Amino acid sequence: MQQAITGDEVRAVRWAEPGLAWGLVPTMGALHEGHLSLVRAARAANDRVGVSIFVNPTQFNNPEDLIKYPRNVEVDLALLREEGVDLVWLPRVEDVYPPGFQTTVSLAHVTQPLEGASRPGHFDGVATVVAKLFNVFQPMRAYFGQKDAQQVAMIQQMVRDLNFNLEIVVGPIVREVDGLAMSSRNVRLTPEQRAAAPVLYSALSSACAAWESGGRSPDDLRRVMTDALNAEPLARVDYISVADPVTLVELEDSAKRALLSMAVYFGEVRLIDNMVVE
Ligand code: PAF
Repeated sequence: MQQAITGDEVRAVRWAEPGLAWGLVPTMGALHEGHLSLVRAARAANDRVGVSIFVNPTQFNNPEDLIKYPRNVEVDLALLREEGVDLVWLPRVEDVYPPGFQTTVSLAHVTQPLEGASRPGHFDGVATVVAKLFNVFQPMRAYFGQKDAQQVAMIQQMVRDLNFNLEIVVGPIVREVDGLAMSSRNVRLTPEQRAAAPVLYSALSSACAAWESGGRSPDDLRRVMTDALNAEPLARVDYISVADPVTLVELEDSAKRALLSMAVYFGEVRLIDNMVVE
């Protein structure tokens, strides 16, 4: 497994064998099964697999969240080696944002509600760094987890808008046995908060069951999720949403498909989860 620090080092490896198809898995490290499932999907479909590990400061609207974001590079590298990854990019902040950097990629609509409303500037940071990752690696396929549903919708929109020549592959949410979606932030939960956190999954499952039995009113689905979350004293709801899965616009009337999503605080730790119903 090769390691690179600068973008030029990545390119040297990437273009040493120009005819090969590369799959790219962008990450911020603190890798868990969710990331590794994306790496395995990339391994299965491409000649070479690249992974980036970069805790991107521009996507953290909350400085405390950036400081507390878990970092474990040595463990991450061992996991990636076991998965047969070919190249890991571990840039320093100045490799990605050198002095004088002045470009921002910003999407107008899909980034406005939900995560965008709660975390001002977050998606500009994500879009800018992902555009850079695509340009540095020039992969044939790039892999993202459905857990960040709005991030996926934004990146797909950006790829269409800016003609990036690659395929976006979306991996399913990987869950713990009790339903909690895997997230690097889960390690920051206290034991009590960790025990309460599967309430996101049960709230989504209840709404999903309501949908399956014909309950298609977005307001009813929101109520089902609200009631489930309000029953958990440690959970503080940031948002609950029933939206169009592509545009992320909140649904007023029943639709053929819906993205059920939520962000919930447990103390200072903010967790998100979602399900698509159709
Ligand atoms: O999903 C993430 O971990 C990050 O938002 C990403 C896509 C690696 C960009 O920093």
